[in-house]
Formats: sequence, structure tokens, C-alpha cells
Amino acid sequence: MSFLKPKDIIEEGDTVILYLSVNSMHAIEATPTIVNKKGETIEYIFQTSYGALKVRNLIGVAYGSRVELSKGWAYVLQPNPELWTQTLPHRTQIIYTPDISMILFQLEVRPGSLIVESGTGSGSLSHYFLRAIKPSGHLHTFDFHEARVQQARDEFQRHGLGTCVSVYHRDVCQLGFGNELEGKADAVFLDLPAPHLCVPFAAKTLKERGGRFCSFSPCIEQSQRCCIALQENGFTEIRSLEILQMEHIVKTKTIPVLDLEFLKHKVADENNADTSTDKAGNLKTPKELKKLLTSSVPPTIPGHTGYLTFATLPPAFVR
Ligand SMILES: C[S@@+](CC[C@H](N)C(=O)[O-])C[C@H]1O[C@@H](n2cnc3c(N)ncnc32)[C@H](O)[C@@H]1O
Repeated sequence: MSFLKPKDIIEEGDTVILYLSVNSMHAIEATPTIVNKKGETIEYIFQTSYGALKVRNLIGVAYGSRVELSKGWAYVLQPNPELWTQTLPHRTQIIYTPDISMILFQLEVRPGSLIVESGTGSGSLSHYFLRAIKPSGHLHTFDFHEARVQQARDEFQRHGLGTCVSVYHRDVCQLGFGNELEGKADAVFLDLPAPHLCVPFAAKTLKERGGRFCSFSPCIEQSQRCCIALQENGFTEIRSLEILQMEHIVKTKTIPVLDLEFLKHKVADENNADTSTDKAGNLKTPKELKKLLTSSVPPTIPGHTGYLTFATLPPAFVR
């Protein structure tokens, strides 16, 4: 139940983040025993790069505590969507925090929102939707992969989020989101290989008074087809963008000090005879150089994840 609200103490069944370092974290369930591959119930011992942890010892411990491992120590943290995205079991490709922050902002997700999502995948994005819309909102999430649907349902239940989410097993490109949701959604989000096929269903599902749409696609061709479908289905404000994280290069560099006297003479020289070069023809430069701490952008920016296509469905009376 660890995602529902802040907690002080780890209870049996909680999902706990075992934090070894910023690059090494594990999500574990606080349960004294597990069933091994042979079907036997055994003591739950979790192995890490700093040795073993007897998981039963976590129950009753305060979140944020330092716990002993056989060859070191770790912190036990209450999970949130950001930590969950970094530690969740990958059943599919997932969407990460930088893209998700833009999705939540652009879709205007807030407490009480009714959100429709497909595919559910590994539930990475779903956890952010749920944090933003609870306690009064609802997430309807669809996937056509039956096993993933069941795994996601169980996971939301274990995380204490079961009442805020409905998980459906359906091919949304063939069947849409169903009559029950027609005209109800504040926002529709798609992470599908062929989102354009689902756009007409998204239009039907958004509220009469309008709503926001987003589709995430790794390839520009998917976004292009999606944009055409959005236009054909009455959407406006269609915009595709890409989130690229850029780490600035901070370096000490030797650079010439801006010499206004020098510039004044240089301009005067250029207006009269050309004396901006010396006798050997070299450009005269200011004499003073200074070492300064500088910041510049990298020549290339790696890290393409996907294109985010946003659109608005205007209220019914202006469509
Ligand atoms: C990339 S995953 C979604 C990942 C998810 N956004 C996350 O952050 O964890 C795409 C999912 O869409 C599902 N899917 C693909 N086509 C579908 C369709 N036509 N109807 C329903 N689900 C579909 C796949 O089964 C897969 O689980």
C-alpha cells in the first residue's frame, strides 16, 4: 500500500526502495518469505552488490532508515513514481520522468481528472497519472496484452491504488474505449505503434466541452500520421515536440577581456585608413586575457526517446 499516502513505518506487503546509490536501487516487497522456482516457500533473502538482506527485518522499520546488509548498508525509501520508474520490472519499453513531466503539464492533469490511457505497458506513466489525479480522479488504462493487463491490475492493487484505476484488456485501435467512457475524458494519452488508428476513438472519448490529447511515438512517421488523423478528426493546436536533456559543459577558459578603448579605436580605424592590422598583416587583438569559468552547450545532444504530439479537441459547439 506504499503509494497511496506518506507512511512512517514499513508494513508487511509494502513495496520498498532499497537505495544503495543513485545508480543502484531495487524495488522489493516487504514479505518474510517467497516461493522459489520449485514451488517451495523459503525465507526471502535479497542479494545486492553490498551483500544479502533478510527482507523480514524491514517490517516495522521506519522509512528513510539505514539498514545493514551483510557487506555494507543501504537506505530504505518509500516509493514514489520517480523511484518506481527507475526500479520497476520492465514488461515493455517505458516512458521516463522527463517526457512524463511534459505530458502531465500539457494534458493539464490534476486532482479529479478522468484520464484514458493506452497501452498500459509496464505502468510507468500510469503511476504518475494516479499520483496527480487521486483521490477523486480516475485512470482508465487499456492494453491488448492479456498477461500485462493482469500484472498491471495486481501491481496497482498491491500499491494501494486499486480504487483509482480500471485496467481493461482491449485492442483500442479496433474497438476504441467503449460507450461507457464516451464524452467523459479530460485527457487521452496514447503510447501505441499505430496511434493514428485510435485518434477517432480518442475524439469520441474526450468531453463535449473539449479536452487534451497526447501521443508518444519514437518515430517521426508515426507522429506525422497521427497529426493528419488529428486534423481530420477536428483537433486543433496540434504540436509535436521532443524533450532533450542537455548537460552544460562547465570549463575554465582563457578568453580576451572586452576592451572598449580597443574597440573604439578599431571602429575609428576602419572608418578611416585600415589600421586594424599591424605591419605584418596580423589582426590587432586586445592584450588582456582572463581565465574565466564558462558554460557552453554540447555540440551534439544524445538521448532521443520519442516525439510527443499534443492537440486540443475544442468544445462541441465550435467543432
Ligand atoms: C510501449 S508500451 C507502453 C508503456 C507505458 N506507456 C509505460 O510507460 O509503461 C506499449 C503497450 O501498448 C500495447 N498495445 C499496442 N497496441 C495496442 C492496441 N492496439 N490496443 C491496446 N494496447 C496496445 C502493448 O501491448 C504494450 O503493452
